[in-house]
Amino acid sequence: MAMNGTPRVGLIGWRGMVGSVLMDRMEAEGDFDHIEPVFFSTSNAGGKAPKGDAPLADAYDLDALKSCEAIITCQGGDYTSEIYKKLRETGWNGHWIDAASTLRMSDDALIVLDPVNRPQIDDAIAAGNRNWVGGNCTVSCMLMGVGALYKAGLVEWMSTQTYQAASGGGAKHMRELLTQYGKLNAEVRDLLDDPKSAILEIDRKVLARQQAMLGTDEAAQFGAVLGGSLIPWIDKDLGNGTSKEEWKGMAETNKILGLGPDALGGSNEKAIPVDGFCIRIGAMRCHSQALTFKLNGDVPVDEIEAIIAEDNPWVKVVPNEKEASMRDLTPVAVTGTLTIPVGRIRKLAMGPEYVGAFTVGDQLLWGAAEPLRRILRILIEA
Ligand code: HSE
Repeated sequence: MAMNGTPRVGLIGWRGMVGSVLMDRMEAEGDFDHIEPVFFSTSNAGGKAPKGDAPLADAYDLDALKSCEAIITCQGGDYTSEIYKKLRETGWNGHWIDAASTLRMSDDALIVLDPVNRPQIDDAIAAGNRNWVGGNCTVSCMLMGVGALYKAGLVEWMSTQTYQAASGGGAKHMRELLTQYGKLNAEVRDLLDDPKSAILEIDRKVLARQQAMLGTDEAAQFGAVLGGSLIPWIDKDLGNGTSKEEWKGMAETNKILGLGPDALGGSNEKAIPVDGFCIRIGAMRCHSQALTFKLNGDVPVDEIEAIIAEDNPWVKVVPNEKEASMRDLTPVAVTGTLTIPVGRIRKLAMGPEYVGAFTVGDQLLWGAAEPLRRILRILIEA
């Protein structure tokens, strides 16, 4: 359904972490010049909106929601579960654009990542699709980096080992991580200040402090200590040895690429196996991934680099050298940017079809906000 003129677009969850990044990006790209924004609130209806004179609308008011041609929500899965179905049952047929995972695998929803799946988006627009959902951050950042290899039909399978930032859990998780770091530092500050102190004593004290955090409010968000450690499980336990985050890797990658039975409308093309381990580490908001590919043939490294580099304006191939990797291929280098560096590209010892790579992405930008604001613009311009 094409939108007319300057459509009324409802914004929900604009105050939270993903919502705030989305607002900043929409401002930076002039998106508000193309819409009539309607700001909603789940807790402060009638309060002051961040733009314009209209007060905040009630995010549970179906009539107010129905007055919008499109709704973008970063409010989270509980809100989607509560409101989406009721709103559709009123007969509303506007565009629902959602950051939450609730509807991602629904048959009538497309996962949006237009630099990777613009053809699927165009087909879905033509077919009258009205549900557009942002992908899992790890999957979106990975495909922005190496999606070209999939699109070129080169990937037989891929294994990913992730290094996921605290922000993936939420704002409280980022605070918890930093608080833990601070408490660990405070525990040994005197010893650190003394260059002659014994490192093993420092280590013992840090460990004792980390262990004292377990089961307390100090580790309540993650449920395990992340500061100075890592957590080898993200999201639910599916009961088959796999975490939900790991399951999403294969399910969403294939759905985004239009492959396999979960693709919008189903697809006869076989799903490509994607599997590995998802690990939480003490980074702030960039997810990193070490990728292992089995390609369909012996493709030279320079050809692989060229295919990746030409795919989209944001991907950047980093030479597989120490200095460049340490400068350009870290969360510190990437945070706050739309750049998706892909480096460490090399053949692996297993054989000429086996290729390794490492990639980093800001999980609040390409991993969350950016695909949402871009699908809104695509729909407006359709
Ligand atoms: N599930 C991701 C994480 C974040 O926990 O890092 C959102 O896709």
